[in-house]
Amino acid sequence: MIRGGLEEAIRERRYEGYPYGPGDPELLDLVAKDFGLKGASPFMTAGGTESLYMIARALLSAGDEVIASDPSYLIIHRFIELSGAKTVNLDIYAPPYRLTADRIQEAIGPRTRMILLIDPLNPLGSGYPREEVRAIAEVAHDRHLLLLNDVTYRDFADAPTLAAEFAPESTITVWSVSKNCGIAGLRIGGFLAPPELVRTIGRFNTNDLGVNILAQVAALAALRTKSSWIGEVRRQTRENGARIRATVGGIDGAELPVYPSQANMMVIDIARLGISPEAVQQELLEQHGVFVRAGNYLSPTHGQRFVRVSFSNPPADIDRFVRAFPEAISKLAVHAPAPTA
Ligand SMILES: Cc1ncc(COP(=O)(O)O)c(C=O)c1O
Repeated sequence: MIRGGLEEAIRERRYEGYPYGPGDPELLDLVAKDFGLKGASPFMTAGGTESLYMIARALLSAGDEVIASDPSYLIIHRFIELSGAKTVNLDIYAPPYRLTADRIQEAIGPRTRMILLIDPLNPLGSGYPREEVRAIAEVAHDRHLLLLNDVTYRDFADAPTLAAEFAPESTITVWSVSKNCGIAGLRIGGFLAPPELVRTIGRFNTNDLGVNILAQVAALAALRTKSSWIGEVRRQTRENGARIRATVGGIDGAELPVYPSQANMMVIDIARLGISPEAVQQELLEQHGVFVRAGNYLSPTHGQRFVRVSFSNPPADIDRFVRAFPEAISKLAVHAPAPTA
């Protein structure tokens, strides 16, 4: 239905004119309904990424601190730093592989302005239990902090919870249709927040002339029908994850810190193999046409321990991984020091 919508829009040459500035009203309405957050207005940008940039620029100042994690989706940390603020990265590369309200509470200082809650988390695939989301939202509320809740992967989770349910006045929820709807290349996403915050963040909007019309058409087609296909996407993603787990399970020294992933990705820890993640990334890409990310893209501290795999793909892509990964590891292991216990 996405392709059909796009073909029709191209036939009608809808790309010739500017889109309606604030975004297609039906699409904004569908986003609002998808999230069901009373009192939060949806805003549309060229991907969730642009929203994250605008949020950092609009709400943070030099010297502010944002409590975040390591590993994390570091592009957001870069945006925070561009605004003159800095992240306080809590090390979460140990159980439960996510932030907790208690650790956030301890890390709050006089300059803390925001908490970054990515749920489910890129790259580990950890999801936050409802009670933890509530507790973190309560910390934000009680300590007068902003809560940036990036829920790009929420449709892959078993029981996702939105922080805005508990701290509506201080939460900015970032939405994306890149992963759940499989239209990452079209670049459309946005955020939801109380109208006052939307106005403040909206001052940094660069899409005054609208977000790409074809991206809007595709997102509209996808969201109109989401209930009919999202279950199958989730099922296939879980099945792919299970096949990857079985493959990793067959390699002595490789392990999955978080399983099952609540997102469409997870981390394979290869530290005990003594092989560099960059070497695995390069070998898989060049010899097998399989792309995994070396950990340094996602963790300053633990990046040398792992690679990240994403797997909301057709099964044929997973077939290739299942063949390629053990082969790449055994080839690279020949040159590696003996595995550590
Ligand atoms: C946590 C997180 N937020 C945002 C994005 C970017 O989303 P978009 O494609 O909507 O810009 C990603 C992409 O990988 C991500 O992992």
